[in-house]
Amino acid sequence: MEEQVYQMPRIGDKAPDFEAVTTYGKIKFSDFNKGNWVVMFSHPADFTPVCTTEMSGFAQRHDEFRALNTKLLGLSIDSIFAHVAWVNNVKKNTGVLFDFPIIADLDMKVAKLYGMLQPNESETAAVRAVFFIDPTGKIRLIMYYPLNVGRNMDEILRVLTALQTTDKHGVALPLNWKPGEKVIVPPPKTIEEMQEREKSNYEMVDWYLAKKDL
Ligand code: BEZ
Repeated sequence: MEEQVYQMPRIGDKAPDFEAVTTYGKIKFSDFNKGNWVVMFSHPADFTPVCTTEMSGFAQRHDEFRALNTKLLGLSIDSIFAHVAWVNNVKKNTGVLFDFPIIADLDMKVAKLYGMLQPNESETAAVRAVFFIDPTGKIRLIMYYPLNVGRNMDEILRVLTALQTTDKHGVALPLNWKPGEKVIVPPPKTIEEMQEREKSNYEMVDWYLAKKDL
């Protein structure tokens, strides 16, 4: 049988637009995205253990995403009825409400558009993808995890904060950077900038690797 090849959006691409049915009604992605960051994530299936822990993690830290002007948007290849029943079940069992829209992508339209369907991992379930989309609609970072390994919520919030920090301050961020730590000043591009740098109080390994506090 011929192998299916689906489109894979890449970092820097415009996030493909779509309309979809969600647990909070119909959305058009470009309207949902307007003026906000969006973290869009897929999970393989409702009523499964790893997915339940992950979705609960997003819900429990929703306020931290809101504080970063970021909307959450879930997706799986399940019906809207399955989504509603699962949300209700988790709320009753644990008190946690998945208070963000979850796309019911039964026809796999959005999953295929975003490369969330990776047939050598599963032909019927979306992998665990996370797309970080900025307020201009550009895809800025993508994560893909397999079906049997849950994601890390600290890392998801860390990279979102990192992306926003690089945008705001025009800096780069080193290995394992966390908010509050020193940032990398982009290397000088002119002799004048180089001479300025020598007079600066940056923490410097050499001219090309200098750090400062924000
Ligand atoms: C889970 O969420 O536990 C799961 C879902 C699909 C395949 C394997 C694990």
